[in-house]
Amino acid sequence: MDFRKLFLHSSLLVLHFAFSSSKDTITINQTIHDGDFLISRENNFALGFFSPGSSRFRYLGIWFRKVREQTVVWVANRDDPINGSSGVLSIDQYGNLVLHSYHNLKVPVWSTNVSVEATDTCVVAQLLDTGNLVLFDDRSKSTVWESFDHPTDTMLPGMKLGLDRRTGMNRFLISWRSAADPGTGNFSLQINPKGSPQVFIYWGTKYIWRGFPWPWKSYAYIFNASFVNNQNETYAAYSVSDASAILRLMLDYSGLLKKIIWQEKDGKWNEFQSTPRSPCDPYGHCGTYGICDPEFLSRRFECDCLPGYEPNPQGTGIF
Ligand SMILES: *[C@@H]1O[C@H](CO)[C@@H](O)[C@H](O)[C@H]1NC(C)=O
Ligand SMILES: *[C@@H]1O[C@H](CO)[C@@H](O)[C@H](O)[C@H]1NC(C)=O
Ligand SMILES: *[C@@H]1O[C@H](CO)[C@@H](O)[C@H](O)[C@H]1NC(C)=O
Ligand SMILES: *[C@@H]1O[C@H](CO)[C@@H](O)[C@H](O)[C@H]1NC(C)=O
Ligand SMILES: *[C@@H]1O[C@H](CO)[C@@H](O)[C@H](O)[C@H]1NC(C)=O
Ligand SMILES: *[C@@H]1O[C@H](CO)[C@@H](O)[C@H](O)[C@H]1NC(C)=O
Repeated sequence: MDFRKLFLHSSLLVLHFAFSSSKDTITINQTIHDGDFLISRENNFALGFFSPGSSRFRYLGIWFRKVREQTVVWVANRDDPINGSSGVLSIDQYGNLVLHSYHNLKVPVWSTNVSVEATDTCVVAQLLDTGNLVLFDDRSKSTVWESFDHPTDTMLPGMKLGLDRRTGMNRFLISWRSAADPGTGNFSLQINPKGSPQVFIYWGTKYIWRGFPWPWKSYAYIFNASFVNNQNETYAAYSVSDASAILRLMLDYSGLLKKIIWQEKDGKWNEFQSTPRSPCDPYGHCGTYGICDPEFLSRRFECDCLPGYEPNPQGTGIF
């Protein structure tokens, strides 16, 4: 092999190694192939390709980097899996993040699909330590697109769930279909901003659970929830009072909303709240004018009527 070729080859190797070991950004003309990763600066999150559970398909996603059990918090191509390790992420000439498969380089599998006026391409995508993948204009530093505005089934600290009236953007969680399929499932967690805003879990278009009406209480223990409701925005968010804690709020594929914290010493996720939990939680469990008694286990009936009403034998179930 001639010397120049050898030199070129080894410098490419070095370049490739440096790139795949610790990069948190991609810019125009750079690519992330299956097997490459973006790693956030403090090592909190990774972006790359994965196959969930027993699935053979490949998805582009973001997961916790410090958690041994791979835990995905965001999926780009949730309904368009890639067959084999042919996926490649890049920024196209219009400044959009695009995901292609070698099998079809013409039509992207997924795209951020935002219209960026400037085609002079100073656009950079960066994976932040919050788990947010942000596409921004490097000169003005203005954000063009961010994954926190397009959640999958997981709400991370710093993310807003709800409506921005100025842009019309509504952010909500949609469950996976199963443990091995991150495709759009049947359950969603949404804030209904009308009147007194309330949080609902929907099964399709029917709601099966609702949280407390506005104004909401915040339970200060680790999860420090905050709520904003003004002319511009209606949203819920949370921060973490212990910065070393790794936790997440997620709507699982069976429709349960879970608050989960990573327990390093046990090497597993610990669920510390799951909703609907009590038989009274599902919306309308006892039917119209019914009252549900969460202490029902100590009595004979869990449902009772408000004074002046009789039990209805065709009472509604969960749905
Ligand atoms: C990207 O690649 C094209 C073709 O090789 C080149 O013309 C262009 O200058 C590159 N852009 C940047 C920002 O490096
Ligand atoms: C995936 O690839 C395999 C082997 O190339 C092929 O048999 C299969 O039909 C493909 N599946 C899809 C959904 O494209
Ligand atoms: C991009 O957005 C436009 C309008 O918002 C929509 O019509 C189009 O289908 C989208 N394309 C992709 C690839 O998602
Ligand atoms: C979603 O609901 C439909 C209609 O009942 C059902 O056919 C489908 O299997 C459900 N999907 C999942 C992933 O549970
Ligand atoms: C709503 O947005 C407008 C324009 O961005 C701003 O001037 C105003 O202060 C905002 N109001 C609230 C309550 O945040
Ligand atoms: C909880 O969040 C609010 C608003 O974001 C903040 O002002 C407060 O300091 C936080 N409290 C704790 C204990 O972190």
